[in-house]
Amino acid sequence: MTTLAGRLEGRVPRVLLTLGSGLGELADEVANPLVLQFTDIDLPAPTVPGHAGRLVVGDLHGVCVAVQQGRLHLYEGVPVADVAACVRAVAEAGAETFIVTNAAGGLAEDMEPGDTMVLADHLNLTGHSPLIRAGAHPQFVDMTEAYDGQLRRVALEAAGRLGVPAREGIYAGVVGPAYETPAETRLLRAVGADAVGMSTVTEVVAARALGLRVAGFSLITNVHRRGGTPTSHAEVLTAAEAGGPRLARLLREVLPHV
Ligand code: HPA
Repeated sequence: MTTLAGRLEGRVPRVLLTLGSGLGELADEVANPLVLQFTDIDLPAPTVPGHAGRLVVGDLHGVCVAVQQGRLHLYEGVPVADVAACVRAVAEAGAETFIVTNAAGGLAEDMEPGDTMVLADHLNLTGHSPLIRAGAHPQFVDMTEAYDGQLRRVALEAAGRLGVPAREGIYAGVVGPAYETPAETRLLRAVGADAVGMSTVTEVVAARALGLRVAGFSLITNVHRRGGTPTSHAEVLTAAEAGGPRLARLLREVLPHV
């Protein structure tokens, strides 16, 4: 086992791009890819059988990136440090920007499955922080502009050019893995959330603590309508596969601007 920095063969990833469901095709576009399994670089592997846990490092649309395929979630029962381990490793290897994507449930009335939400802010409702580490000095990290304003503008302009339906919004990060009850959905709306998902927020806290600029994108896979909408994992995965290519087009436009 060895750390990421020792395995990069001279590459210095400028960007960590973490792919949520439906976005796998972007990893296939990396030129001269160096494929590293998490377990080869001392990173914890996803516990879900059949889920990839790997980094693909190389050039993507002119930028040296580390593409993260497969991530760990708090609902797998792993420590929050494991959820954020990849962010930490790629930051230590030299990355300055974190582009994070996820599948999320829409809460805003006017959302449709397949829409893209550019994260303007988040609510960390997981009850966890990767900055709480036994024996480490507490890090009191500023989070007032967790999602970089310039990257948000670039993303919205690119969406306009491409005709990709996108809006800014607030992502609520929850532990899951149960989907929301109607009462929870009402609560999330009442506190200002536009979408809800089971990832991203603890990774972003870690990234900000490490000084990375962050851009975040949700692919809306299902929408919680008033009165409650049954949601299934299969529906979320199908919608992610269907909507992924559109968000991938947007990410290709954003990457050269980081
Ligand atoms: N809730 C939480 N996480 C999700 C959802 C949802 O509705 N859709 C995709 N991830």
